[in-house]
Amino acid sequence: MSFLQSTLKVYRIILFHSFLVVLHDLAGAADPPYKNCSSTANFTENSFQDHVISLFASLTSNASVSNFHQASTEDNPDSVYGLYLCYQYASKDDCGKCIATAALDIQKLCPNSNEAVVWEDKCQLRYSNQNFFGFLDVTGNIVQENTQNVSKAEQFPLLVNSTLHNLRNVAAFDPSAGMNAAQKVEFANETLHALVQCTRDLSPDDCNLCLETAITNISPWYFSRGARLLSRSCYLRYELYDFFGDAPRPPSSTPNPKKRAQLNWSRRLDIIKGIAKGMLYLHQDSRLRIIHRDMKPSNVLLDKDMNPKISDFGMARIFGGSDSAANTAKIVGTYGYIAPEFAMEGLYSIKSDVFSFGVILLEIITGRTNAKFHLSKHAPSLLAYIWQLWNQGKCLELIDPLSNDSHDDEFLRYMHVGLLCVQEDAYDRPAMPSVVKMLMSDTVTLCQPERPAFSVGRIADHHQTCYNNLSLNNLTMSDILPR
Ligand SMILES: *[C@@H]1O[C@H](CO)[C@@H](O)[C@H](O)[C@H]1NC(C)=O
Ligand SMILES: *[C@@H]1O[C@H](CO)[C@@H](O)[C@H](O)[C@H]1NC(C)=O
Ligand SMILES: *[C@@H]1O[C@H](CO)[C@@H](O)[C@H](O)[C@H]1NC(C)=O
Ligand SMILES: *[C@@H]1O[C@H](CO)[C@@H](O)[C@H](O)[C@H]1NC(C)=O
Ligand SMILES: *[C@@H]1O[C@H](CO)[C@@H](O)[C@H](O)[C@H]1NC(C)=O
Ligand SMILES: *[C@@H]1O[C@H](CO)[C@@H](O)[C@H](O)[C@H]1NC(C)=O
Ligand SMILES: *[C@@H]1O[C@H](CO)[C@@H](O)[C@H](O)[C@H]1NC(C)=O
Ligand SMILES: *[C@@H]1O[C@H](CO)[C@@H](O)[C@H](O)[C@H]1NC(C)=O
Ligand SMILES: *[C@@H]1O[C@H](CO)[C@@H](O)[C@H](O)[C@H]1NC(C)=O
Ligand SMILES: *[C@@H]1O[C@H](CO)[C@@H](O)[C@H](O)[C@H]1NC(C)=O
Repeated sequence: MSFLQSTLKVYRIILFHSFLVVLHDLAGAADPPYKNCSSTANFTENSFQDHVISLFASLTSNASVSNFHQASTEDNPDSVYGLYLCYQYASKDDCGKCIATAALDIQKLCPNSNEAVVWEDKCQLRYSNQNFFGFLDVTGNIVQENTQNVSKAEQFPLLVNSTLHNLRNVAAFDPSAGMNAAQKVEFANETLHALVQCTRDLSPDDCNLCLETAITNISPWYFSRGARLLSRSCYLRYELYDFFGDAPRPPSSTPNPKKRAQLNWSRRLDIIKGIAKGMLYLHQDSRLRIIHRDMKPSNVLLDKDMNPKISDFGMARIFGGSDSAANTAKIVGTYGYIAPEFAMEGLYSIKSDVFSFGVILLEIITGRTNAKFHLSKHAPSLLAYIWQLWNQGKCLELIDPLSNDSHDDEFLRYMHVGLLCVQEDAYDRPAMPSVVKMLMSDTVTLCQPERPAFSVGRIADHHQTCYNNLSLNNLTMSDILPR
C-alpha cells in the first residue's frame, strides 16, 4: 500500500468536479414573460376571442400531463390554432403552472391579436388564426442576453459554440431525445448550463434548421454570461448558473484554490497514464490483489507534481490467491462510474474497475462528466453519446475545446482505449496490463470496441468509425492475465 500512503501533500482532484458555485446573475436582462403580438385582429364578433379562451382551457388541462401539445377549435372562419412547449427541465407540475400563467399573460399582453406568442421561464405558448402546425418559423426571433460579460473571455465563446452545436445534433437527430438536449460543462471555476429544444411538430431537418438559426442569432453574444434565444419553433438558452433547477452542490471545502492549474493535453495524458499504472499496481503488482470498487475522479488525488494517486479505499476488496471476482448483495460505488454487472448483479471483478477507469479516461479527454451528462432524459450517458459519434465517424467533435493543444491521433487512440474499457460485456474489456500497453505504445493495434454499457438506443453499431481508413482487427490484443 506504500504507493498510496506515500502521498502526504495532496490536492483534491482538479479535474471537473470541483468548485461548483451557483450564481444567479441575470443582471440587466429583462425578466420573462417575453412576447410577440402580431397584427391586431378586426373581429366582427367575439367568437374568435371566445375560441382563444376555450383553447387555452384545453391546453392548460393537458399541460400537467405532457410537455408539448397542439390543439385547435375547428369553427370556420374563426378557427384558432394553439400549441405550448414546456422546456426539458420543467416537471409536469411546473408545466401545468407555467402554461396557466402563460395563458393569462398572453391575453393581458396581446389583447385582440390574431397571432401571438409568449415565452416564460419554463414554457412557451402560441396561438394563431392560421394553421401553423408543422411549419418552421424563425422570423422575429428575439435574443435576451445577460449584459454582464465573462471575465476570462478567450475560450468561453468556443465552449459555448461547440456545446450548442453538439446539443443541436442530438435534439434534431437522436430520435430518443424528444427534440431537446441539455448539458452541463465545467468552465474554469464555473459550470456552463445549456439547453436547446424544438416544438415537437417539426421534422428533424426543420428542428436542425431552427436551432442552427438560433445559434447564429445568438453567436454575437457569446461573451455574455448567459443568453436566451426566443423563437416560435425552438428555444435555446445557456447560463453560468443552474437554471435547470437541480439542487446546487455544496461548494468544496478544499485547501486547493490558487493552485488550480489549466490541464493541458500532455498533462491530461500523463494523468491518465498515472491512474492506469496505479490500477495496474493494485490489480497485479501489489502482493495482494486489490479491487478498488469506487474509482471516480474525486478519488484520484494529484500531488504537487500533478502525479495522480488513487485514494479512498473504503470500498476496496482484497483478494488472496487466484480469486479475481466475487459477488455481493450490497452494491457500492458511484453512479456514473460503476460497471453494469456490478450495478445490476452485484458481481465485481478487476474488469469492473477497468470500466470505471474507462469512464474517467473518457471524461478527462472530452472534458465532460458522465454522471452530470444529460443530453436528454432518454440518452442520459456520456458513453451513449460518444458511441453515437464514434459510429458516425465524428469523434473529433468531442475534443475538449479547452484542451487546445491536443493531437487528433492521440485523441482518437485514447478514445478508442476508453471505449474498449467501457464495453458492456466485462469479458470483452481488456485487463489493466493490456490497457497500460495500449496507452504507452502507439503501435499496438486495437480491436474494434463493442457497444458500451448504458447506451441502449437506436444507435447503429459499426456503421462507420473514426478510423475508417485505418485497418483495424488485423491483430487482436490478448489479455495478459495476472499471475
Ligand atoms: C472565478 O474566478 C474568477 C477569477 O479568475 C473570479 O473573479 C470569480 O469570482 C470566480 N467565480 C467563482 C464563482 O468563484
Ligand atoms: C379588417 O377588415 C377589413 C374589412 O372589414 C378587411 O379589408 C381587412 O383585410 C381586415 N384586416 C385583417 C388584418 O384581417
Ligand atoms: C389533452 O386534453 C384533451 C381534453 O382536454 C384530452 O382528450 C387529451 O387526451 C389530452 N391529451 C394529452 C396528451 O394529455
Ligand atoms: C414579431 O414577429 C414578427 C413576425 O415574425 C416579426 O416580423 C416582428 O419583428 C416581431 N416583433 C418583435 C418586436 O420582435
Ligand atoms: C462585452 O463584450 C463585447 C465583445 O467583446 C463588447 O462589445 C461589450 O462592450 C462588452 N460589454 C460589457 C458590458 O463589457
Ligand atoms: C461554431 O462551431 C461551428 C461548428 O463546430 C463552426 O463551423 C463555427 O465556425 C463556429 N463559430 C464560431 C463563432 O466559433
Ligand atoms: C503543459 O503544462 C505543463 C505544466 O504547466 C508544462 O510544463 C508544459 O510545457 C505544458 N505543455 C504544453 C504543450 O503546453
Ligand atoms: C491555447 O490556449 C492558451 C490559453 O488561452 C493560449 O495561450 C494558447 O496560445 C492556445 N494555443 C493554441 C495552439 O491555440
Ligand atoms: C483518413 O484519410 C484522410 C485522407 O485520406 C486523412 O486526411 C485522415 O487523417 C485519415 N484519418 C485517420 C484517422 O488517419
Ligand atoms: C491489415 O489487413 C489488411 C487487409 O487484410 C492489409 O491490407 C493491411 O496491410 C493490414 N495491416 C497491417 C498493419 O498489417
